[in-house]
Amino acid sequence: MDLYDVMRTAGQTKIFSSDPVPLETVVRILDHARFAPSGGNHQGWRVVVVGSPAVRRALRDIYQPVWDEHRRDLAEQRARAAAGETEHSVPTRTELAADEFVRHLDEIAYLVVVGVDLDALTITDSELDRPSVVGGASIYPFVHNIVLAAHNEGIGVALTTLICREEPKVKELLGLPDSIAVAALVALGSIGPGGSVTRLSRHPVSAFAHLDHFGTALDEGAVS
Ligand SMILES: Cc1cc2nc3c(=O)[nH]c(=O)nc-3n(C[C@H](O)[C@H](O)[C@H](O)COP(=O)(O)O)c2cc1C
Repeated sequence: MDLYDVMRTAGQTKIFSSDPVPLETVVRILDHARFAPSGGNHQGWRVVVVGSPAVRRALRDIYQPVWDEHRRDLAEQRARAAAGETEHSVPTRTELAADEFVRHLDEIAYLVVVGVDLDALTITDSELDRPSVVGGASIYPFVHNIVLAAHNEGIGVALTTLICREEPKVKELLGLPDSIAVAALVALGSIGPGGSVTRLSRHPVSAFAHLDHFGTALDEGAVS
């Protein structure tokens, strides 16, 4: 598959089945994901691949209340969008799919908890008076490589971060040391009926790119 085709189709799996996935497949995915870039090439990713049914259930039990709370925020956000107060809201069908996903989280073959060694991060914007974004750039390329590799293997994948709100519980469950932060939970499993995404929906270049100065849209139609 052409790289551009991959970039345009590598979405999140909406529906998983509980069919098993060989552990070798997960190892192969990680073996390719490790070529991700990171600040200073420090490669701070630390991963726990959870296949144990009991630990998967424990992760779902941590995730469920966070999702329930987030769901209430989504309903509020949708009401504000309907009143024209915000542009950002999650469509109901996306929310329903996410709800199904969380309720059956423990049935997915592997839940890969991706942590990052905080000492390995190069956070060049830590002194600024706003939330840092640079630190995450040393771990999420690795996480996205897992998404891409899962597509290459033909298995389902879903990247989630909501559970990070309950980092202390996740760390205690998995025995993660203090120096490791939880960056994501990536579900890897078999794709359920109608669960794969074949076409992604994203804003066009003109909606976010500017030429020479912010405010002058880089209109893709004007470039030949
Ligand atoms: C940093 C990051 C965090 C995300 N966290 C969650 C999450 O906690 N729960 C979830 O259901 N999806 C999560 N997603 C998935 C996004 O919702 C998803 O990428 C987006 O809806 C687009 O879906 P698509 O790629 O299938 O089109 C996350 C994605 C990213 C990049």
